[in-house]
Amino acid sequence: MAEQNIDKPGRQRAIAARKAAREAAQGVGVKSKAKNVKGKNSNKPGQPAANKAGNNQVNPVTRAKKPAPKIQRDKFALKLNTSRPKAHLLEQLRKYEPWGHRIDFSNGVSTMDVGHRTPFSENPTQKAHLAFSNIPTGDLRGKRILDIGCNSGYSSIYAATQFGMRPTGIDVNPRHIEVSTMLSNMADIKAEFKLGDAETYVESEQFDVVFHFGTLYHLPNPLLSLASTYENLVPGGWVAVETQIYEGADKNQCYFMHMHNNDHTNFWALSRHVMQNYMEFIGFQNFKEILRVTPKAMEVDGMHRTISIAQKAPN
Ligand SMILES: C[S@@+](CC[C@H](N)C(=O)[O-])C[C@H]1O[C@@H](n2cnc3c(N)ncnc32)[C@H](O)[C@@H]1O
Repeated sequence: MAEQNIDKPGRQRAIAARKAAREAAQGVGVKSKAKNVKGKNSNKPGQPAANKAGNNQVNPVTRAKKPAPKIQRDKFALKLNTSRPKAHLLEQLRKYEPWGHRIDFSNGVSTMDVGHRTPFSENPTQKAHLAFSNIPTGDLRGKRILDIGCNSGYSSIYAATQFGMRPTGIDVNPRHIEVSTMLSNMADIKAEFKLGDAETYVESEQFDVVFHFGTLYHLPNPLLSLASTYENLVPGGWVAVETQIYEGADKNQCYFMHMHNNDHTNFWALSRHVMQNYMEFIGFQNFKEILRVTPKAMEVDGMHRTISIAQKAPN
């Protein structure tokens, strides 16, 4: 009896595995477990799945066991050294509740401990990390970075703590400027945060790097902002742009997304083609998309989130 109890699920697993292999070989989308089964060798409809060896047999059991890669929960939290007493720090953090991003201080205090909102990002420095991993800039120590739509200043502060850069963060929301300044003071970091408009802010040829994260699609005039960004960069400087893009049947078609999801701050999802071509028109070169993700909710609309980098022409 005991043996039967052990054997039954085993047999069922073997039957399910054989069925999944059969279906995968026939090019049928396999449900539930097959999610894992499809993996890298995912096949187009009507096309059999191929394994590494190039034949059409898959081993669904082995694949199913492979865990999906996961980011460690707080790997890209902003981590700050501070000499301020815990009580003082907590008092400051409480002033600016609710928090949207995870920031951990060396004395054990974290924005996790105070009021926070949903969605709450545990990994606010991830975009900056990815951009710095892809921009071939050499030594950045002492160089200037402009962080457009800086929010709570995490990308700027990360650029200062990790690369010794001199950040300037701009945002239209005074609350964000106050918070960014408070955080950089707490960690004794030299950074400048000020009110400024992404479309028109210009300090001509002053910045080696510009981060333009999560702000372009909030602008009524995104092309103007890309032109101002070009003006802000030193010759040979790099921009990293993270934005929402639209891919319809016509590559020249952009999407006016004002009030999309009932959000009055949404304006344009440019198509990748239009964004790249316009950037090249104003003088950018070496355009490269370094990340594209399509959250489930965006699939139906042809929307994607991308991060792209490009370089201002050197003199
Ligand atoms: C979605 S958040 C992105 C924040 C951050 N850059 C990031 O990627 O995590 C957009 C930010 O852009 C700011 N913003 C919106 N319109 C702006 C404008 N015209 N000029 C500067 N900042 C703006 C908002 O206040 C907000 O902080």
